Amino acid sequence: MSRSAHIQFILNGQLHQVEPVDTHQTLLQYLRGQAALRGTKEGCAEGDCGACTLVVGELSGNKIVYRALNACILLLAQIDGCEVISVEGVQDKDGGLHPVQQALVDFHGSQCGFCTPGFVMSLYAHYRNGRPADRESLKTALAGNLCRCTGYGPILAAGQAMYNYQQPEVMDTVSLLREIANNELVLHVADDDNQLFAPTNESELQQLLQQYPTATLWAGGTDAGLWITKRLARLPTIIMLGKIAELNFVRQTSAGIHMGAMARYVDVCDILATEWPAFGEVIRRTGSVQVRNAGTLGGNIANGSPIGDMAPVLIALGAKLTLAKQGSTREILLEDFFVAYGQQDLGPGEYVRSIFIPTGSAQLATWKISKRFDQDISAVLGAFCFSLAGGRITELRIAYGGMAATPKRALATEAVLLGQVPSEEILATATLSLAEDFTPISDMRASSSYRMQSAQALLRKTFSASHVYLAKTGAADA
Ligand SMILES: Cc1cc2nc3c(=O)[nH]c(=O)nc-3n(C[C@H](O)[C@H](O)[C@H](O)COP(=O)(O)OP(=O)(O)OC[C@H]3O[C@@H](n4cnc5c(N)ncnc54)[C@H](O)[C@@H]3O)c2cc1C
Ligand code: FES
Ligand code: FES
Repeated sequence: MSRSAHIQFILNGQLHQVEPVDTHQTLLQYLRGQAALRGTKEGCAEGDCGACTLVVGELSGNKIVYRALNACILLLAQIDGCEVISVEGVQDKDGGLHPVQQALVDFHGSQCGFCTPGFVMSLYAHYRNGRPADRESLKTALAGNLCRCTGYGPILAAGQAMYNYQQPEVMDTVSLLREIANNELVLHVADDDNQLFAPTNESELQQLLQQYPTATLWAGGTDAGLWITKRLARLPTIIMLGKIAELNFVRQTSAGIHMGAMARYVDVCDILATEWPAFGEVIRRTGSVQVRNAGTLGGNIANGSPIGDMAPVLIALGAKLTLAKQGSTREILLEDFFVAYGQQDLGPGEYVRSIFIPTGSAQLATWKISKRFDQDISAVLGAFCFSLAGGRITELRIAYGGMAATPKRALATEAVLLGQVPSEEILATATLSLAEDFTPISDMRASSSYRMQSAQALLRKTFSASHVYLAKTGAADA
């Protein structure tokens, strides 16, 4: 395994070659420290406020795709082989303001200015990718940026106007990026106590995991990044998965949708939303654009959180995982992966390779209950996958997040409903049976009784709607 200790990236058009002194260094720390570029701000240091937003470009065929990311929870090593644009790099060739900046000035989109570089960069990513400038698209693009003083009206107005200004000439960085992106060496960075590897294929990953079976795997870092910035954890060995192309794929066949563990929300949202619009809605409400541009489905599952949004939906859909380690692979149902709180069925040196979701004729309904619409973790998430024939429920899988120590199926409730017409009477019995399936806890997100009442209401909402539909079509009487 040939190794390199250098991280290479293009920053605002200039090639940077860095040998990190600290494996835990974030891109934000590098920018504001060594690079002395202090336009990018630190607000929360946990991916919530967007003050640190910058744009990272990655090659996709012959073009570069630009994505807004939170620099506060992005390790410097994660941008090896990428192009980075910070707020200092968006002005036109003559040093004039970029249309996004000019529009923010003209529409009074800034007061104290602390949040402004982050808003500029979120809008800039939207602009560079030629995304639509209607209010709804802009609200989604800016959901990960908080402003405490201006109010969002003028900022949205600036976003709607940004394409009306003369388009600036942009530097073509494709060939430079191609040179640095094709590095086949395994990145190996070490400081006094810790080390970080970025293997480029699964075989190298397996060798490293054989040697360091307790290493921390690092996917997008939207969970793991907070261990460093908030808990001040020091992780002795980090293995990054971002360069392993075999883990980053999305394929649809007649049997289902197969996704590598490193597929990010942004990569899978369209395909999943086309197959199951309700799944697309859950992804739309997972974090913000910045979080979805970095976070992976594999990371969401592997962290084993009882309130992760993907697991209940995937369990309801009957998803399977492929787990791998040197010399072996195995398949398990996702619902069997979660053993107990903080305990997943993952042996030493083993990792999540891929996720498979079977497709069929069953329909999916999902409901996420959280205190805020955007950028908030669920108190309860209910996912219902079912088929109806002759008015009866002929196929059913119900899973909830936030109701137990792990994401979990509601097997007792399923047993009540399966084979039945979802009448008011049956629904009343089914909602009561949720107490057999779950004893939720009280915490800062919701009380135990709120959780139970929400879960019951979601069940009722799903099947009352189907009952109304069935009644309308006459199928309920069939
Ligand atoms: C501001 C903010 C908002 C968020 N909002 C939501 C939300 O609405 N809903 C939600 O569910 N989550 C949310 N999250 C949490 C997080 O974004 C997701 O859980 C995300 O999917 C994690 O993926 P990642 O690639 O960033 O994982 P990482 O942080 O890289 O890793 C997470 C864990 O999984 C392990 N891991 C990663 N990949 C593998 C693998 N292939 N095999 C084995 N282990 C692996 C890591 O070692 C680590 O323990 C939010 C996070 C932030 C910062
Ligand atoms: S500093 Fe708040 S998201 Fe990064
Ligand atoms: S302008 Fe002050 S926080 Fe947005």
